[in-house]
Amino acid sequence: MLGKWELGETLTSEIPEYTSKELSAKTWPDLARLFEKPEIGDAWWCWCTHHHVESYSAHENAQPRTRAERAVRNRRQKEKLVRNGRAHGVIVYANQEPVGWCQYGPREELPRIDHSSNYRNLAPTDEKKKLWRITCFVVDKNYRKGGVASTALKAVLEGIRNKGGGLVEAIPVSRTDQGSGYMYTGTVSMFQKAGFKTVGPFGTGRTTTVVMRRTI
Ligand SMILES: CC(C)(COP(=O)(O)OP(=O)(O)OC[C@H]1O[C@@H](n2cnc3c(N)ncnc32)[C@H](O)[C@@H]1OP(=O)(O)O)[C@@H](O)C(=O)NCCC(=O)NCCS
Repeated sequence: MLGKWELGETLTSEIPEYTSKELSAKTWPDLARLFEKPEIGDAWWCWCTHHHVESYSAHENAQPRTRAERAVRNRRQKEKLVRNGRAHGVIVYANQEPVGWCQYGPREELPRIDHSSNYRNLAPTDEKKKLWRITCFVVDKNYRKGGVASTALKAVLEGIRNKGGGLVEAIPVSRTDQGSGYMYTGTVSMFQKAGFKTVGPFGTGRTTTVVMRRTI
């Protein structure tokens, strides 16, 4: 199903009204429902676990070989993190159906970036401020380019504010011509619109990303 608003028509009244909920043990089945959809791309096997672990070697002890095996392992790990209160995010719904999500959390919960050599010179110097990270977006292909990720970002910033705020960090892509699969950390323009400023270049390989921050 392609939303009519994606076809260049001006049927703004048909854009569904999005609602959002924080990830919790109660909303876990909704996240699972989203990740089980065939329309979500590579998230089906990742389950947004990548940023929860320090490195491949830490994560891939007794590494499963296939993506299907990783999907089983990652889903189990994600559910455990959720039940232990160690995974945060916002699920976006259209007509009660989960259609997208954005992962965030305190630095300790999403430590992977700390272990990148590109990050060392960009790490914040003010240790007193709590550091939050926004690491992943996933949107159902049928709802892309309809503002789901932007809605999720807004709700995430609200969630961080409600938890006391601090310094919020993201690593969005500066190039948007490589396809939506490369844009899972969001885009620079999304974060600019949300008041973030660029700190410096981060990913310089296959995906070109920058570190952006703002205080909430
Ligand atoms: C990237 C993604 C999250 C964007 O979600 P979305 O709901 O379509 O985004 P929005 O409609 O809120 O748009 C956000 C911004 O991105 C831009 N954008 C969205 N899709 C785009 C695309 N394919 N190409 C270029 N720009 C795009 C929009 O124009 C908008 O820019 P603006 O803020 O300057 O107006 C979505 O395409 C997606 O889920 N991709 C797959 C990610 C993935 O694989 N995740 C799992 C990794 S394991």
